[in-house]
Amino acid sequence: MSKATSKSATKAQAKSATKTRKAKATDTARAVPGGKTVRVEFEDGIAWVYFNRPEKKNCMNPELNSEMLEVLEALEIDNRCKVLVLSGKGDSFSAGMDLREYFRGVETLSPTEVQRIRNIAYRWQRNVLMYFQKPTIAMVNGWCFGGGLSPLVSCDLSIAANEATLGISEINWGIIPAGNVLRAVAAKMNQSDGLYYAMTGRTFSGKDAARMGLVNEAVPLKQLKARTRKLAQELLSKNMTVLGQIKIAYKHVREMPWDMGEDYLVAKSLQTRFIDQNAGYSKGLKQFLDDKTFRPGLGHYDPEK
Ligand code: COA
Repeated sequence: MSKATSKSATKAQAKSATKTRKAKATDTARAVPGGKTVRVEFEDGIAWVYFNRPEKKNCMNPELNSEMLEVLEALEIDNRCKVLVLSGKGDSFSAGMDLREYFRGVETLSPTEVQRIRNIAYRWQRNVLMYFQKPTIAMVNGWCFGGGLSPLVSCDLSIAANEATLGISEINWGIIPAGNVLRAVAAKMNQSDGLYYAMTGRTFSGKDAARMGLVNEAVPLKQLKARTRKLAQELLSKNMTVLGQIKIAYKHVREMPWDMGEDYLVAKSLQTRFIDQNAGYSKGLKQFLDDKTFRPGLGHYDPEK
């Protein structure tokens, strides 16, 4: 083979390898993640993510925790997911950790093995979901107990069915609400309510949860999905880069001293202008100050202009 022919053959091979890589990447992007203990349904920018063990009241076993971690990591870079809604199939959001598989089932394992199993749950519930780069909404459709409260609190916003039944039930079966459940409820409930329900193990309704600030609002079960969709659509109409930055900044800054928070937010704000491909800052100022086409106090700038 002449030098020139071999050079062009190598070029063709490289081109075809790139094509295959691109095709594979597209396939991966189009595949729906999960499918067993976690179900994902895409709808116009919303990824509806469901706990999918309805016959077990969607309690979380190690398999579900691993699948959920994979699903969330896949959705974070999937353009079909712009807003994520977490809910449960059947009549439950989640009846907490699986007492059979997550507790009794690991009793014979070494402490290190147990910790590895626990870490997968902590990782998806707190690290990945809490700081998910896109907005998240918990849609609490039914039973929600103990460990089920952690992902609820990790979501940015939440809507419950009036009829949902929730509880910090660990006292009822003789353990403390660990797995960071107490830390999670303490982030949203005031001390009187949090301690009352953690110490009595009594249940409360979705309506009560809204009154106590554990969720943003409660609506009749029949309206739950439509109301959640409406909220997701409202978020979708905003500048998604800025939205992602606001939620992450909010969660970090509330743990910081004021001086550090001030400095962090200034830096975060500059970072946001730098990464915002829609140039929201300039468009917003122009449309208000020069074009006078909107009022920031009352509505959103037009990202298309
Ligand atoms: N762990 C393991 N299995 C659970 C479970 C959990 N957290 N929650 C429900 N299940 C299982 C039940 O054992 C039952 O399994 P089976 O059909 O093999 O017997 C199945 O899910 C259905 O539950 P069941 O209790 O029959 O339904 P119900 O409608 O009568 O009651 C609940 C629903 C949610 C009130 C009840 O299942 C319950 O109290 N679950 C535990 C809630 C809890 O305290 N979780 C905290 C864990 S940290």
